[in-house]
Amino acid sequence: MRLGGGTRVLITGASRGIGAALARALAARGCELGLVARDKAALDALVAVLPGAGHRALPADVADREAIAAAAADFGRVDVVVANAGIAHYGPWLELDPERERQMTDVNWTGTLNTLRATLAGMVERGGGHVVVVSSGAALRTFPGAAVYGATKAAQRGFAEGLWHDLDGTGVGVTIVYPGEIETSLHDHQREKLPSWRQGQEADVDDCAAAIVAGVEKDRRGVYFPPQVRLLQAVHGLSPKLADLVLRRLRGRSAAPRSR
Ligand SMILES: NC(=O)c1ccc[n+]([C@@H]2O[C@H](COP(=O)([O-])OP(=O)(O)OC[C@H]3O[C@@H](n4cnc5c(N)ncnc54)[C@H](OP(=O)(O)O)[C@@H]3O)[C@@H](O)[C@H]2O)c1
Repeated sequence: MRLGGGTRVLITGASRGIGAALARALAARGCELGLVARDKAALDALVAVLPGAGHRALPADVADREAIAAAAADFGRVDVVVANAGIAHYGPWLELDPERERQMTDVNWTGTLNTLRATLAGMVERGGGHVVVVSSGAALRTFPGAAVYGATKAAQRGFAEGLWHDLDGTGVGVTIVYPGEIETSLHDHQREKLPSWRQGQEADVDDCAAAIVAGVEKDRRGVYFPPQVRLLQAVHGLSPKLADLVLRRLRGRSAAPRSR
């Protein structure tokens, strides 16, 4: 669907990173935005600098079904919803605090359900709209130290793929986004503890937002950014063992330490 003047877009995780970059890209096109995150001050600051009018800061925790439902109701009609809010805690699973595991599940996965529960029925009733689910390359192949994070991202992917079929004939499109490594604050709380395979160069966040905008406008089923993420899917789908070999060569042994 065309994203331009009068298109009303609700974005979760909009206070920074991919969500904020998407907000800047869509506001520049004339869309009216409902911006959700927990940090109200950051949302207010973003609204103050975005071009255009009608943008709203809607502070809410996506893990809280009633809170995100109230935020969406407050915004009103939603033409496009972007379920983007997410958190990441890396480390070997046995060493992961179960509380972190619960938070990733509640925000990344249940938060996606809560966000779409609050917005999708209205789109179907009106006979048009678009759902964007920001998953991850980790949904296509989970890396060491990211077992729970990868599982939450794979849950988003499985759900959105089913939804894509469910919504046949409703006029509502679905795009699943598979970012690779993007320059945001997702890992700022544990930069020094990231596994060495995750310490490579990160792609530009505004380029990622531009790829998402283009993907929605072309009604793409998947957006892979950077494009090598699609290659990862293809190689891993063909043979996980082959993907191990390729990744070890590209990222070192920490990317696929187990050989049998
Ligand atoms: N960056 C990458 O390399 C990468 C790669 C693959 C996938 N992704 C996915 O991209 C999405 C965006 O991440 P990012 O990289 O832009 O990270 P980020 O810079 O840390 O931004 C995360 C956003 O999510 C919001 N958020 C976190 N918990 C929330 C909650 N409970 N309720 C509402 N909002 C919440 C944060 O705002 P508040 O803290 O104010 O709530 C923030 O706006 C995530 O789903 C992530 O998994 C990122």
